[in-house]
Amino acid sequence: MFQSLVDALTGARRVTVMTGAGVSAASGVPTFRGADGLWKHFRVEELATPDAFARNPRLVWEWYDWRRQLIGACEPNAAHHVLADWSLRFPQFALITQNVDGLHERAGTARVLRLHGSIWDVGCWRNCAASPHRWRDHTTPFPVLPPPCPHCGGPLRPGVVWFGETLDAEVMDASLAATDCDVFFTVGTSSVVYPAAGLVDHARRGGALTAEINPDSTPASGGVDIALALPAERALPDLDRRLGPHPLALQTSRLSLRPVLPRDTAMLHQLWTDPAVRRFLWDDAVIPVTTAASVTSASANDFAARHYGLWSLYTRGDEPKLAGFCGLRSEGIGEAPELLFGLQPAFWRQGLALEAARAVVAYGFDTLGIPRIIAATDAPNERSARTLTALGMRFDRRDDHHGLDTLFYSLDRNESA
Ligand code: OAD
Repeated sequence: MFQSLVDALTGARRVTVMTGAGVSAASGVPTFRGADGLWKHFRVEELATPDAFARNPRLVWEWYDWRRQLIGACEPNAAHHVLADWSLRFPQFALITQNVDGLHERAGTARVLRLHGSIWDVGCWRNCAASPHRWRDHTTPFPVLPPPCPHCGGPLRPGVVWFGETLDAEVMDASLAATDCDVFFTVGTSSVVYPAAGLVDHARRGGALTAEINPDSTPASGGVDIALALPAERALPDLDRRLGPHPLALQTSRLSLRPVLPRDTAMLHQLWTDPAVRRFLWDDAVIPVTTAASVTSASANDFAARHYGLWSLYTRGDEPKLAGFCGLRSEGIGEAPELLFGLQPAFWRQGLALEAARAVVAYGFDTLGIPRIIAATDAPNERSARTLTALGMRFDRRDDHHGLDTLFYSLDRNESA
């Protein structure tokens, strides 16, 4: 069963995952149903309906304020991380969640369809004219409950969808559209709250292979093609491992180039803080992966479906060394991105620079379909200049870039041999 799912995912382009509270259980966020679920201790009608809020906004806010504090102390778990990686791995990936905790976003998933809103959003209960519909407010705990609307002074409400309220039509439409996919997962949900619980049937009727990940059986279990009775934080990393290397990774005999995944946040952080690493990076090349995703997916061209923002280049072998990076940069949403790359200064001197530069150029033009590649070297460096001109790259400009004397070279696809 597991293997047939791996096989289906290996060939899949369109993957949609819908999650519920169980995906955050390993992070310490309580689920709603089950032995120790929230609804065992609290009553929906007193806390999660517009009537309840109208009757006692303070009581409702005490509950949400408590949950905000609890969730604020939780971290994404292995299941969130794998899904964030998949949002970059599959050309068309959608994550639909019933969760309001924001942990998918914190793990780095680029675009999350939040069916039930976000606990980190607030809105004016009276919908006063000066207020936007919802906005983000991370204050925890709020000093006064209910917190006052900054525009009219009336009570704010949590930006979640309560029982008896309709879901955001745009989010619902996008979720329905995302059921048109090759593989549809329902993960960590008891599948009893509609319309979310109906999406898996929609996907199956549309021809998707459907799979459930949940240690317990649910009303959906009998109808899916594959039911994995496992916790999400075990099943998803297991599946991910069996999928093998990332399809948009590239290997030469001595080097490997692979996308920087959201789970590499420690490395991304290091990029920004380690001056030695920064010597060959430049701010506008390293756009965060999530920004890159929105830039590329908004541009209607042949690389629109590929959501990659940043790659790292490693030497192969027992002790891989970081050799360089390349990253997409764009003047703005809808503008064609360029691929910029830079190598570690020491690397230019190791004789591998030509292989590295050639790999990046071929990868950018052929695999990604990027029309223009820019190379930067952080110092007037004869070796790097020779390497780049040997590849047909043209000297573009010399700039003081963040205090570093930097040479830029460029190559357009239509000029490359
Ligand atoms: P539930 O609490 O109803 O269900 C959580 C599911 O996760 C259960 O089926 C568990 O068996 C399963 N589960 C527990 N641990 C798991 C793990 N480690 N891995 C995978 N699964 C695990 O939560 P939801 O289905 O998300 O609505 O609830 C749906 C909606 O009902 C929520 O969005 C909320 C709630 O009332 C609103 O607030 C509108």
